[in-house]
Amino acid sequence: QEDVFKKLVSHCKEYGFVFPSSEIYDGLAAVYDYGQMGVELKNNIKKYWWDSMVLLHENIVGIDSAIFMHPTIWKASGHVDAFNDPLIDNKDSKKRYRADVLIEDLLAKMDDKIEKEVEKAAKKFGESFDEKMFRKTNPRVLEHTAKRETLHTRFAKAMNDGNLEELRQIIIDYEIVCPISGTKNWTEVRQFNLMFSTEMGSTADGSTKIYLRPETAQGIFVNYLNVQKTGRMRLPFGIAQIGKAFRNEIVARQFVFRMREFEQMEMQFFVRPGEELKWFEKWKQTRLKWHKALGLGDKKYRFHDHEKLAHYANAATDIEFEMPFGFKEVEGIHSRTNFDLSNHEKYSGKKLQYFDPELNESYVPYVIETSIGVDRMFLSVMSAAYKEETLEGGESRVVLRLPAALAPIKLAVLPLVKKDGLPEKAREIIDSLRFDFRCQYDEKDSIGKRYRRQDAIGTPFCITVDHQSLEDNTVTIRFRDTMKQERVAIADLHNIIGEQVSM
Ligand code: GAP
Repeated sequence: QEDVFKKLVSHCKEYGFVFPSSEIYDGLAAVYDYGQMGVELKNNIKKYWWDSMVLLHENIVGIDSAIFMHPTIWKASGHVDAFNDPLIDNKDSKKRYRADVLIEDLLAKMDDKIEKEVEKAAKKFGESFDEKMFRKTNPRVLEHTAKRETLHTRFAKAMNDGNLEELRQIIIDYEIVCPISGTKNWTEVRQFNLMFSTEMGSTADGSTKIYLRPETAQGIFVNYLNVQKTGRMRLPFGIAQIGKAFRNEIVARQFVFRMREFEQMEMQFFVRPGEELKWFEKWKQTRLKWHKALGLGDKKYRFHDHEKLAHYANAATDIEFEMPFGFKEVEGIHSRTNFDLSNHEKYSGKKLQYFDPELNESYVPYVIETSIGVDRMFLSVMSAAYKEETLEGGESRVVLRLPAALAPIKLAVLPLVKKDGLPEKAREIIDSLRFDFRCQYDEKDSIGKRYRRQDAIGTPFCITVDHQSLEDNTVTIRFRDTMKQERVAIADLHNIIGEQVSM
């Protein structure tokens, strides 16, 4: 699986999806640029989200708030005081780690050990294997499970209490070694704030320290009354936003999964106090359905309900997706109570109440939040789509089985030869379709090579123009996934393609 992931990362670079940032200067850690194909896929993902939220919901509207915001906003939201990661340094290698990630990695290793035991037994006993019974009775599995549980309990308590010394003690007790130098020589653990700061105004007339927003949500909270009043919105209603967010992540790894500059698609749904759990449930189901509608495979998704809740939340879940490196959070759905709005009232001194004409009373609404990372969504789509296939006759191909609606290029038009008027005919076809679908023209190399190039960028349809096309205005359409070819009238292309690329 790790191997497939490496191949996916190099595929992304080779075909213009994702480049390391500032590559000619040897890159900038955890920052990436999207290339000519990547930007199309990303834009399509954003459109798929925006349309499902804003186009299909009369009571949801969008905004685009600034990245720079008043610094007190981050005091009110709790980010200045609490948006921290626990850091630890290895004294020998001088490398810095997140203490919690070191422990999580150990937990994952313990899980692996248990699963390997189960797999081994399943292979040995075949059909008659009773997995449940085995997990309950096998001494080795029981021993590993008990060890894992003890560690998990201790870790969860330390995180919950913010007990940094205990985190260090766990790392020492479990003899966690530095992944680089293999030594166990650790410093104390300290908190590190993830927000990037910069200065606004010149220092001569006194500059102000401001932050690059670590989430887009606060731009929605501070604008909620502006939107409600000017848009004459009535509860329940939502505000959606897509935009960049910045976090000085310590452990930057797994490609675009954890970046220092990334993009979020967030929606805050404002509801009457007391109705939030009903709406939480509704959004949970709506969001999962949205993911599954892409057809990447229902089994690749699962909910991870939070047992321990942040002090402002009264329900929270993650939608996890099976990445090549395991199930990982792609989207968070949180019932955030009136925590943010009430705090903004407190810090700004302005009333942020909504007058409810039905109840004839004013109150601060409660909020359900759906928050998804564009880049993580991009990675989940790419990792599910990437396939290495062996074809009949022993040939192989790399294909991106992207949902047609998200594919960067919808169709390629390929003249069989570079002469006899075929290129002109191909251009004519492109001209009739280019206003509705992103097309690509390609006449170089053999038709087989051209098909492979389109497979590798996930183009769902290849249209081949041959001599017969000049006589009867038909072409062959080749379908990416089945590689089947059909002869169809040029006049029907718009309908055939349109049917598949619309969602
Ligand atoms: N407003 C709530 C919020 O920001 P979060 O769980 O911290 O919640 C929401 O982030 C989503 O943003 C995550 O589910 C993930 O998809 C994405 N995200 C968070 N940090 C990220 C990072 N460093 N790189 C890429 N995506 C990230």
